[in-house]
Amino acid sequence: MNKTARIFVAGHRGLVGSAIVRRLQAEGFENLVLRTHAELDLCNQAAVQQFFDRERPEFVFLAAAKVGGIHANNSFPADFIRENLEVQNNVIDAAYRNGVQKLLFLGSSCVYPKFAPQPMPESSLLTSALEPTNEWYAIAKIAGLKMCQAYRRQYGFDAISIMPTNLYGPGDNFDLQNSHVLPALIRKAHEAKASGGPVVIWGTGTPRREFLHVDDLAAACVFLMRRYSSEDLVNVGWGEDVSIRELAELIGEAVGFHGGFEFDASKPDGTPRKLLDVSRLRALGWAPEISLRQGLRMTYDWFLAHLNDYRGDH
Ligand SMILES: NC(=O)c1ccc[n+]([C@@H]2O[C@H](COP(=O)([O-])OP(=O)(O)OC[C@H]3O[C@@H](n4cnc5c(N)ncnc54)[C@H](OP(=O)(O)O)[C@@H]3O)[C@@H](O)[C@H]2O)c1
Repeated sequence: MNKTARIFVAGHRGLVGSAIVRRLQAEGFENLVLRTHAELDLCNQAAVQQFFDRERPEFVFLAAAKVGGIHANNSFPADFIRENLEVQNNVIDAAYRNGVQKLLFLGSSCVYPKFAPQPMPESSLLTSALEPTNEWYAIAKIAGLKMCQAYRRQYGFDAISIMPTNLYGPGDNFDLQNSHVLPALIRKAHEAKASGGPVVIWGTGTPRREFLHVDDLAAACVFLMRRYSSEDLVNVGWGEDVSIRELAELIGEAVGFHGGFEFDASKPDGTPRKLLDVSRLRALGWAPEISLRQGLRMTYDWFLAHLNDYRGDH
């Protein structure tokens, strides 16, 4: 991938896509092809074919997807499975048909079984049942990574798939209903700082989760686009997890919120632990750099600078 290569970042306004664009620009890639959702609906097969035929990108980062937390997945299962299947089918196929040199597909750690061994190795894919709350999304993602493998086997198309852990950072979705736990907690702690009172968190606070700053993920994407070519998946994570209680305390520290957190143990906890096995990526020579403490501070600074236009209800 040389500095003048034509690179299409699908979903460039999202959390991941915008971080990939920042990273590519910082590394001096100047020939980026970008389209907003309004300009190009990736669910529209004819429009996607026409776009690839006209623009002829050489590299594709597929970071467009319908994404959300448990509530959103539960409320809109049909949208989650259909839109994600359509976006990835259209983009992967059009990329192959129009001579793209290489495509990177963004999967997710939710493709792994509910009771996968911890930390979860790539080899645990399809070894047992999924977590039911987000299986619509996970099934679509599994179809996407399988499509990359199939196009590589049948057509020799250089498509790679990576499975990131939970991500956070600038541009995240801070909606109170439809976002992930980390941005929702940042916002709640910020609002409770003004109104006083504790922040209530569902569950006991003991489940353990892994979080990776999206700028680290973007660096891994560019690294793998340059150096990796195989049908084997690659997990991308920080390599260590924290309890939800520890996460809340770190968020309190970053936000300057001292009102305390209360845990509502009558609400469900979810899986006790979710951590990716990142030994494959480490063996390739890549490691993340942004600690959770540092990343939370950076994210809160971004949130403060975007109080009027962050993504989510206002
Ligand atoms: N966030 C995480 O914690 C996480 C973790 C693991 C993996 N990932 C993966 O990373 C990828 C990107 O996630 P993200 O967190 O960056 O999501 P995001 O912030 O919601 O961004 C997704 C982007 O895709 C666009 N998009 C969705 N449907 C589209 C369509 N039909 N046509 C054109 N654009 C469309 C969205 O545009 P609109 O907003 O205008 O619809 C948005 O800009 C996903 O594949 C996800 O599975 C994310």
